[in-house]
Parts: sequence; structure tokens; C-alpha cells
Amino acid sequence: MAEDAAAVAAAAAPAEGESSQNITPWDVEAGDDGVDYEKLVRDFGSSHIDDDLLDRMERVTGKKVHHWLRKKIFFSHRDLGEMLDLYEAGKPFYLYTGRGPSSGSLHFGHLLPFLFTKYLQEAFDVPLVIQLTDDEKFLWKDLTLEEANYLAYENAKDIIAVGFDPKKTFIFSNIDYMGHLYETVLRIQKKVTLNQVKGAFGMTESMSIGQHSFPAIQAAPSFSSAFAIPLRGQTDLPCLIPCAIDQDPYFRVTRDVAPRLGFRKPGLIHSKFFPALQGAQTKMSASSETSSIFLTDTPDIIKTKVMKYAFSGGGETLEEHRKNGANLEVDISYQWLRFFLDDDEKLEHIAEEYGSGRMMTGEVKQTLVDVLSDIVLKFQADRAKVSDEILAEFMSVRPLDF
Ligand code: TRP
Repeated sequence: MAEDAAAVAAAAAPAEGESSQNITPWDVEAGDDGVDYEKLVRDFGSSHIDDDLLDRMERVTGKKVHHWLRKKIFFSHRDLGEMLDLYEAGKPFYLYTGRGPSSGSLHFGHLLPFLFTKYLQEAFDVPLVIQLTDDEKFLWKDLTLEEANYLAYENAKDIIAVGFDPKKTFIFSNIDYMGHLYETVLRIQKKVTLNQVKGAFGMTESMSIGQHSFPAIQAAPSFSSAFAIPLRGQTDLPCLIPCAIDQDPYFRVTRDVAPRLGFRKPGLIHSKFFPALQGAQTKMSASSETSSIFLTDTPDIIKTKVMKYAFSGGGETLEEHRKNGANLEVDISYQWLRFFLDDDEKLEHIAEEYGSGRMMTGEVKQTLVDVLSDIVLKFQADRAKVSDEILAEFMSVRPLDF
């Protein structure tokens, strides 16, 4: 209750001089300067991931942390320290993440949590469950049940292509797995009131009862009781959830209800949003063809989209650019390179040269096109190898190996 109430009260009243922003799982509206993540951490009551915590992760795993952690792209957490304590004490966690299957193909923004989760799975050597919320998309979007369920399977192939360990990874569609999930869902539903859901999500009374009860379904996989078979009857495994920060309201409700059910609160690692091509005011949306680059796009399409739509922070004129340099903060090509160019020296070089006006926007865009094209071509080759048998293996209800 406390986490919730504080968040709602704070979000309702932006302090003077603060931009108003509205971040819910369904809508990301930022102020003109983009999302204010400091304010989000304050409003939501989460914690920044600091360098001490990262050093500790490196000690515990014996591996360098993912570069997105040092770059503060994954920047906020809840109880990550506790998760590491438990891990070191011989009580490892399982990972839980998910995807709402609203489009046939994933775009680069969707790739972030999965690539990051893959790093976590490898670094900690732990089991992973991935929830495909075809039920959620049925309830919220103009999709039939059959379409939503079909998209879940299509998306599962994309997710598998990221390279998860089939022995340690269970991917499920809510529609299919609900019989297994239902007991845990019920326990949650009994303890969460309509007022809480309205408070945490700003749901209104004209929304369907399916929508109102959905939070219990996204909460349920946070408790190992929801995975009697995959997690081998271990009812007290801690859970760590990597997700974009807009999903946090679900897990505030989850963490609030956990102790009342005798369950452990899940830990969380939050990412920032991957900006749309047109600028950082909003997150990339699968429903807008020109704001996103899809993993099915060809290098030619990528080139066209980046050249045409990627918002430039470069000067209006050549003289101005040479004089003042580019504004890297708002330059989408540079920002995307921060995510996907895993070469700190090269990135630093671009920041120097472009930021000071010696390098032109076209060159930065071309670098981005090359980086994205490489990723997409490799991804498409891996995706083509995901057969129906492999899909069935990942999605079958079976004991995981851990
Ligand atoms: N609701 C999320 C979406 O629309 C999908 C999701 C379900 C999820 N469970 C999750 C995301 C756990 C992160 C973590 O994309």
C-alpha cells in the first residue's frame, strides 16, 4: 500500500519547474525535454543502480556487467542488493520478463529487455520464465483471441532467436498456461482491491473488468508457486524481473501484496525507454511504422528510415554546426549508437567529433545504419533457424534444468 499510495500522490502533483509527465504501462507521455528519469525514480520510490552495486555484481558473477548498466540505460532497481545477498548465500533467483504480443515482429526497442535478460541468465546461470500476454493484448487492442495467441507464438520465435538456453528457459502464452497460473492469480485477486488497481494504474470505470483484473495475471509469475513444474516445486525461489520502467506499476502492486500471501517480494531492474526515431519525447511504438525499425526490416529500409526520420541534433546550417557542434542529448542517431554500438572508444570518438561540429550528421547516421544492419542480418539468420520443434520445446510445460 505504502509504495503505491506515495507513487500516486507524487505523480499527481508535479513540483514547480518540473515537467509534467505521465508514464503508465499503456502510455508514455514525456515533457518537451524527454522523460525525466530522476523524477520517475522519486515518484515510483525505486533506487538508482550505483557503481558500488555494479562492482558487486561483477564480483558475484565473475563477469563484467553489461555495458547498458555502466551507461545507466538499466538504471533503477528494487531490492537488487538483497537478490545478490541471497545469491551469494546459495539461494539463487529465477528471472521473469515478458512481452505483450501486439505486432508480428519485434522492433529494436523490444530487443532491449531480452538482450539484457540473456546477459543476466548467462552471468548468473539461472532459470528464466517469459510471459507472453496475449490475453492483455486481446483485452486492450482490436485483436481477436486467435490473432493475439498467434502473435504470441510469432513473437516467441523472435525471442528464442535472441539466444536463450532452451534447458533453462520457459516461454508461455497466458491463454495457454492459465490453468497452471490460475491458483496464484486467484490468491492475488483476493488480496488486491479495485481501489488499489485504480490508484496504481489510473484505471477508469469505463474500462472492462478484464482490464481491471489483468494486473493479477502479470503479477503471478513473480511467485515461484506459479511454476510448479518448470521450477520443480520450489515454492520459495526469489524472483528478479528485468523490465522497462513503465511496467513498474504492476510490480508495485505485486510487491505490496507479496507479504500478505506469505511470498517473497520480487526484485526489479528497470531500463529507460528506447527513443523513437523522431525524438526522445516518447518511446518507440510498434503501431507506428515510421517511428520504429523492425527486426524484419532490410538494410535498405533501415537506411531510408534512419536518413529520413532519425531526429538530428546537428546544427541547422553548416556554419552553425561547425561553430556549435551537435546536441548529442537529442540526436537520435547518437543515442541509438549508445545502445547498440558496443565499442566505447568508437562511441567516445563520435561524441567528441560530432559534439564539437567536426563530424557531420550524415556520417553518424551511416555508422548507425551499419551497426543496425549487422544486428538485423544476424538476427534474421538466427530467426530462420527457429523451427516449430524448437518453438514447441521452449513452450512446453517441463521441468527446467537448474
Ligand atoms: N505487459 C508487458 C507488455 O505489454 C508484458 C509483460 C508481461 C512484461 N510480464 C512482464 C514485461 C514482465 C516485463 C516484465 O509489454
